[in-house]
Amino acid sequence: MNGAESPHPMFTFAHLSDPHLAIQSAPGLRSLMNKRLIGYLSWRTKRRAIHETRVLAALTEAIKQAETDHIAITGDLTNIALPAEFKEARRWLDGFGPAQSITLVPGNHDAYVGVPWSASLGQWADYMRGDGQQMNSPDDFPTVRIRGPVAFIGISSAHPSAPHLAVGSVGREQLAEMEQRLAELGREKLLRIVLIHHPPVPGTVKPRASLLDAGDFADAIARAGAELVLHGHTHRMSHQAIKTPRGPVPVIGVASASARAQHAHREQAQFHLYTVSREAEQWRLDLEIRGLDESALTFRTVRKLPVPLPA
Ligand SMILES: [Fe+2]
Ligand SMILES: [Fe+2]
Repeated sequence: MNGAESPHPMFTFAHLSDPHLAIQSAPGLRSLMNKRLIGYLSWRTKRRAIHETRVLAALTEAIKQAETDHIAITGDLTNIALPAEFKEARRWLDGFGPAQSITLVPGNHDAYVGVPWSASLGQWADYMRGDGQQMNSPDDFPTVRIRGPVAFIGISSAHPSAPHLAVGSVGREQLAEMEQRLAELGREKLLRIVLIHHPPVPGTVKPRASLLDAGDFADAIARAGAELVLHGHTHRMSHQAIKTPRGPVPVIGVASASARAQHAHREQAQFHLYTVSREAEQWRLDLEIRGLDESALTFRTVRKLPVPLPA
């Protein structure tokens, strides 16, 4: 890693989530003979008016202009996991930036129904795989990418669930590996940032949309330690924490990257800009929230706040 004496700021990155790219053309009837039918109707009647291509284009442009060192995306690029949506999302990723500069984890919509790896998440493998890792199945999570002083740990909580459910889980094997990798990365004194789609603090969302093994996830974080957990799924900003012996680990969620207007309990499009620096031999993390100015279709600073890190 870079030395602790490096000038401020040491590293910057953006976090966005839940772009829910627009479905480009009507899917064939056969592909809708499952949970997708409900999802497609929901897209046609509600979601299509919320998630706008031009808002997402403005957001990606604003992040490009910010020239951050890295970009983290916490899932839900698609709506009903059609093979065409995965291809479209790959085109979007390619236009956004190179795979080594963008770290992606999938969301529940990206696993809406079971789709073969090569036609679904496999399309995004370059953006998800860990350093030096081959990625051939959803079982290849967690991923670890080291960039500057930061280790991004990618977790998949995405798997198909019954109609009307949007739950996720990490699973025992992935949790065990996450804990082991976090402990190793902690010994290397890296700033450990865990990326997961579902919010891991119980009660953040209704049970039908929750992370089923949130308790086990929090226990693993408490044992191994982490500096920050970032998530999406809620389509709104939230700032919570997981208690650990070294102090609370911040858990921060971001609004959807494509939401045109406020809807229900969700927010207009936002993204988060983080700056990592060193202060008195400690990590310092600052968050700047940038939100949509709908009239000008630009993003402006909404709030700036320091994020207290565990000791
Ligand atoms: Fe979402
Ligand atoms: Fe989600």
